Amino acid sequence: MNYRHAFHAGNFADCVKHALFIQLLRAMQRKDKPLLVLDTHAGIGRYDLSSGPAEKTGEWREGISKILAARDPALADYTALIEQLGLYPGSPAIATALLRPTDRLVACELHPEDAAALRRNFQGTPGVAVHERDGYEALRAFLPPPEKRGLILIDPPFERPDEFATLAKNLLTAYAKFKTGVYVVWYPIKHRAPVRAFFETLQLANVRDVIAAEFLRRPALDPARLNGCGLLVINPPYGFAETALPVLHALESILGEPGSTAGVERITDE
Ligand SMILES: C[S@@+](CC[C@H](N)C(=O)[O-])C[C@H]1O[C@@H](n2cnc3c(N)ncnc32)[C@H](O)[C@@H]1O
Repeated sequence: MNYRHAFHAGNFADCVKHALFIQLLRAMQRKDKPLLVLDTHAGIGRYDLSSGPAEKTGEWREGISKILAARDPALADYTALIEQLGLYPGSPAIATALLRPTDRLVACELHPEDAAALRRNFQGTPGVAVHERDGYEALRAFLPPPEKRGLILIDPPFERPDEFATLAKNLLTAYAKFKTGVYVVWYPIKHRAPVRAFFETLQLANVRDVIAAEFLRRPALDPARLNGCGLLVINPPYGFAETALPVLHALESILGEPGSTAGVERITDE
């Protein structure tokens, strides 16, 4: 496990993920019923962008820094939360900020040092449980949740060439156990072929109601670069695709290079 999110926190792909994740969580919270947020690959939860790993790579300067400077009204909800939270928030900190008293967050992280930091960061936070464990195994352990409503964020590091295959296998196992969950999978777009294969696996397995929200910073021509990223959503909450579009277009206008694109594509029917 070489990947450490601290080097990449705040980069364009992190921002795309979080801006849309906030919308998904808010959309699910339109119903009063309690829900579980399961963050399978949680990272440490909070990041100091001004020193250490984040400062070393400076990736956040091409991501959150530009977004905060642009003040685009379509991103106001996202940027207000980032500013309110102070230290740059990862997905567990964002979820925690939005949890209602009846909601729960289960955050899993496998890297021992990062899991310890995650635990320290959320010690004593009501409604939050931290587990040092494999996120894929956590899908089997925590689903279906007693609340019967769940937002499941799966955000692996993609440092192994077989991550898409592992992800698809575990996603299908989780879906078989809990068909009504809202599953959100972040994926990199270096080139199109592995992403298409991932979609096809879900199509062949008859997973219903799947969409993909994508931002390509530049055309996906050089497979050695992170050209874009997407969020695959199974069972998207009502209206999510429509609210995601202006967010994606705002991100594109701030972060896009020549040839950039953004949009929402339906992968399987409801
Ligand atoms: C992309 S980062 C997560 C970022 C976080 N979701 C956020 O948005 O702030 C991926 C994390 O997964 C962790 N990880 C890698 N393999 C894992 C596994 N099998 N189970 C749980 N966590 C894992 C890595 O240590 C890393 O912290």
